[in-house]
Amino acid sequence: MIQPEVLDKLCCPSCADTPVTLGSGRRPDLVCQDCGHHYPIVEGIPDMVAPDRQPHPASYRTETLANVIAGVYDFVAPLMSMAIWRCSPLRYIDHENRALGRARSGVYLEAPVGTGLALAPVVTDDHDAIIIGVDKSWNMLLKAQKRFENLPVDVQLIRADCDHLPLKSGAVRSLQSLNGLHGFSDRAATLREFYRCLEDDGFFSGSALVRAQTDVADAFLERYERYGIYPMLRSPEFLLQEMRSSDFEQVHFETHGAVMFFSGEKTDEARSRPQLEPNARAV
Ligand SMILES: C[S@@+](CC[C@H](N)C(=O)[O-])C[C@H]1O[C@@H](n2cnc3c(N)ncnc32)[C@H](O)[C@@H]1O
Ligand SMILES: [Zn+2]
Repeated sequence: MIQPEVLDKLCCPSCADTPVTLGSGRRPDLVCQDCGHHYPIVEGIPDMVAPDRQPHPASYRTETLANVIAGVYDFVAPLMSMAIWRCSPLRYIDHENRALGRARSGVYLEAPVGTGLALAPVVTDDHDAIIIGVDKSWNMLLKAQKRFENLPVDVQLIRADCDHLPLKSGAVRSLQSLNGLHGFSDRAATLREFYRCLEDDGFFSGSALVRAQTDVADAFLERYERYGIYPMLRSPEFLLQEMRSSDFEQVHFETHGAVMFFSGEKTDEARSRPQLEPNARAV
């Protein structure tokens, strides 16, 4: 069952900011109040991938890979982080803790949530945020659901695409994106979407794998890309430039091995600037 306070924050991913309501049919679903599309709720997880989108061909590959590795992800990810990316897995927990703390009584969005590996350890019953996790991979979400069963508070999982999030504009107080951005087919579009979902003075943080940090990591990232798994990954500065182009202010970063941790804010200064055309770049 979807909690009313969560439902209030959701919208149709195809019709900007149009609310969805619980359907009255035999099978549970959410219905868009504008286009009338039905989003099925499967085992408590609404499937809110926009129906009318022409997905980027690379996104099939990324989704398939995520479904395949979901079973071993909890074991392989920390090992790779230590051995290949040269970043202690504990750093993710630290960053997660900070990001969740910033949500206070607002919405905390984890996008992508994966198997919930980083989120689960920091959720305690003294947090009063509404916690939502989105991911495109069913297998990742089902693993996360199992992991979250024993948590003291609810985490609402949603199947969604990070570049068309089913969240109303300004609904999210703190958005965390750990190791997702480097795998998204159109990072600039995703960053704009993250920005849209944040409330005024909301926080954005996360991490991404970047090149030019260690030879071993570069060798792996090059192979990933050669097999079409990830789009082009460049230096931390490149990603920072993309974040600034998406209007984030107070952008900071630090790198640990091949992992870049970043943070930014949606501030007054950015909101008062003239809007850029969707594909324009600030320099
Ligand atoms: C490396 S995992 C990171 C998961 C989690 N944040 C963590 O740190 O453990 C990348 C995740 O991104 C998800 N993903 C890839 N492309 C996506 C998209 N366009 N929209 C939503 N999720 C996506 C994959 O399904 C996968 O679960
Ligand atoms: Zn709609």
